[in-house]
Amino acid sequence: MQIHSAIADLRAALKKRDRIVFVPTMGNLHAGHISLMEQARAHGDTVVASIFVNRLQFGPNEDFDKYPRTFQADCDKLAAAGVDVLFAPTEADLYPEPQEYVVEPPAIQNILDGEFRPGHFRGVATVVLKLFNIVQPNAALFGKKDYQQLMVIRNMTRQLALPINIIGGETVRAADGLALSSRNGYLSEAERTEAPRLYRLLNEIRIAIRSGETDTVKLEKSAVATLDSAGWKTDYVAVRQQSDLAMPKGANTPLVVLAASRLGSTRLIDNIEV
Ligand code: PAF
Repeated sequence: MQIHSAIADLRAALKKRDRIVFVPTMGNLHAGHISLMEQARAHGDTVVASIFVNRLQFGPNEDFDKYPRTFQADCDKLAAAGVDVLFAPTEADLYPEPQEYVVEPPAIQNILDGEFRPGHFRGVATVVLKLFNIVQPNAALFGKKDYQQLMVIRNMTRQLALPINIIGGETVRAADGLALSSRNGYLSEAERTEAPRLYRLLNEIRIAIRSGETDTVKLEKSAVATLDSAGWKTDYVAVRQQSDLAMPKGANTPLVVLAASRLGSTRLIDNIEV
């Protein structure tokens, strides 16, 4: 696996490569990321991954400084997964001057996670567009665990007419249902035991809707109450339309249940399509 940190070196390395498939990450790779790398191979000839902890998408009181950085272990995993090229820029490589030109996503950036993480999706969209411009992939893969992120990136790619096929990868879960996430490593042993409750509740909401329950607000409130009485601090549990993450309008609209809640100081997000 080739590793490049400078934009010019990466561009030179990719110049003669065909059908590039790109998987951007912030590192601390787990089986969810590796599953995206493995799926990538089916969509092109050259698999490019990136590792960059993007300061722009972290709020001032968030975990940018403590975000786990495990570069050597990540490289070993990527090489074993058959990744051809790794782009691992430093902040000086990617942001040699203050990033004043940014991508400002529309109203979707202010709902759900965006309400609780102001500026987060601006930071994500900006770095992803910049990475797309550098790597110039034909296709790119993102995990469905970050459902709203995937939608922001899909919409940006479509509206800006980027010639990139955006592919969503299914969430990979531990045996007890907890969605794999780099932030799971922050959980204490007791919190890790408690954490699968989030997915169990999402699943219960899904089952209730499939069984004919239409009062989605009642389902949301009940899940928040259950979480909070078990010691969580919940930002939201929300039943939304898959197409635009708006409140459900009318029957037979495909739905998704999304949640974000804190266990101790760790904020977990998850979702399930109904
Ligand atoms: O999902 C992530 O790891 C990040 O948000 C991404 C897409 C790599 C942008 O920094």
